[in-house]
Amino acid sequence: MDTPDPEPALIQSSGRCSLTCLTPLASASGWFPGLVPALTLLLPALAVLLALRLCLAPLQLLRAPHQVGYTPEPGTSKSQAAADVRRRRKRGELPPVYPNGWYRLVDSQELRQGQVKNVTIFGEQVAVYRGQDGQAYVVDAYCPHLGANLAVGGQVIGNCIECPFHGWQFRGEDGKCVKIPYAEKVPDFAKIKTWPSCELNCAVFVWFHCDGIDPNWSVPEQEEIQSGEWVYRGRTEHYINCHIQEIPENAADIAHLSHLHTPNMLSGSDLRYTRARLWGFAQHDWKVEWHPEPEPTKHCSRMLVYHSLYILGWHCSLLDVHVVARQVGPGIVYMLFNHSSLGRGVILHCVTPVEPLLQRVSHRIYYQANIPPIVPKFILKAECVQFERDVMVWNNKKYVSKPLLVKEDSAIARHRRWYAQFYSPKSPRLTMRHDDLEW
Ligand code: FES
Ligand SMILES: [Fe+2]
Repeated sequence: MDTPDPEPALIQSSGRCSLTCLTPLASASGWFPGLVPALTLLLPALAVLLALRLCLAPLQLLRAPHQVGYTPEPGTSKSQAAADVRRRRKRGELPPVYPNGWYRLVDSQELRQGQVKNVTIFGEQVAVYRGQDGQAYVVDAYCPHLGANLAVGGQVIGNCIECPFHGWQFRGEDGKCVKIPYAEKVPDFAKIKTWPSCELNCAVFVWFHCDGIDPNWSVPEQEEIQSGEWVYRGRTEHYINCHIQEIPENAADIAHLSHLHTPNMLSGSDLRYTRARLWGFAQHDWKVEWHPEPEPTKHCSRMLVYHSLYILGWHCSLLDVHVVARQVGPGIVYMLFNHSSLGRGVILHCVTPVEPLLQRVSHRIYYQANIPPIVPKFILKAECVQFERDVMVWNNKKYVSKPLLVKEDSAIARHRRWYAQFYSPKSPRLTMRHDDLEW
């Protein structure tokens, strides 16, 4: 194919180097005839592939701890703003910091056979690994021998974890040390603490009880995930600077929905701008109820949500969505969607206490396999925008143990009574005080 020669004047005035920079394709075609037609076909094909990938690949929005919900002063970075808020904020009279219950540790796909991971949870370090039997085991990360971290350089041998320092091997089932490479005998007291765990709904969960009591309820299986009828379409992850109870309490705080969550998602999640008039053409409407469940599932509660969207006052009924958000224990929520044309699915919302006032929150969406992935990805993105509005409040608020509630806020008081079942007299508390001038 003929390609026009580079402009002679340009060659004379700029030399070969400049010309190559300015018109690389034309220049290269002089050396590689056929390159331009090939690229003409290739580039659109790549663009189509990229677009397909964007539509089909799972959505992944993983936020760094300082990324969302802080308002830095001019000249200050977000991470500086986050550090300042954490240092200066009043905490209020906090409930215990680690309620008893099941918490998500890692997603199943993050843990291949023979792989070990170090996870911070309840201010502790645990090692979670997948044995050769395919099962996930959770043990204390620090070796009882001389304190090496088993998850940093430790090897999975069969169903045991081998310490990287002197090679002691601990069995995942009960923590018993089964081998000390240089000792004649393994003493009976050589053990490591194991944590009760389970794996379902594509995640590994760990049980915490301050008195060491075994689980008295289990994490419900979402049958459609287990069977593959609903498939993974994306996840988000946030770190939130607040007490754990603030997050589930949101479900019973009915009044905040019609204030914080009314502006449409295009207005974003920075609360300084969400109520700008520019975005007022479309608004969400929420009708919500919250109820605790009776025995034998009193560790569960339900939030029933009826969502509508209004555009210029016109009710867009296609986006009428009914969601049942079932809270199971202190740290897991199943948000079930059921829509006549947009299909069915679930967002698994899991809160994991990393430290007393630092929560890791994961949302994973599973959706009917025959619904185009763009639908669940849009739902997850919309959920993420609304959630990040709450994050901005949580990151900066104080816990108020005796709130000023009006009659319409009564579900908050009921939620506090319900959530108190996850605390025991010995539940760990944050005792350090710097909320007042008494040191
Ligand atoms: S510290 Fe683990 S074997 Fe010595
Ligand atoms: Fe909210």
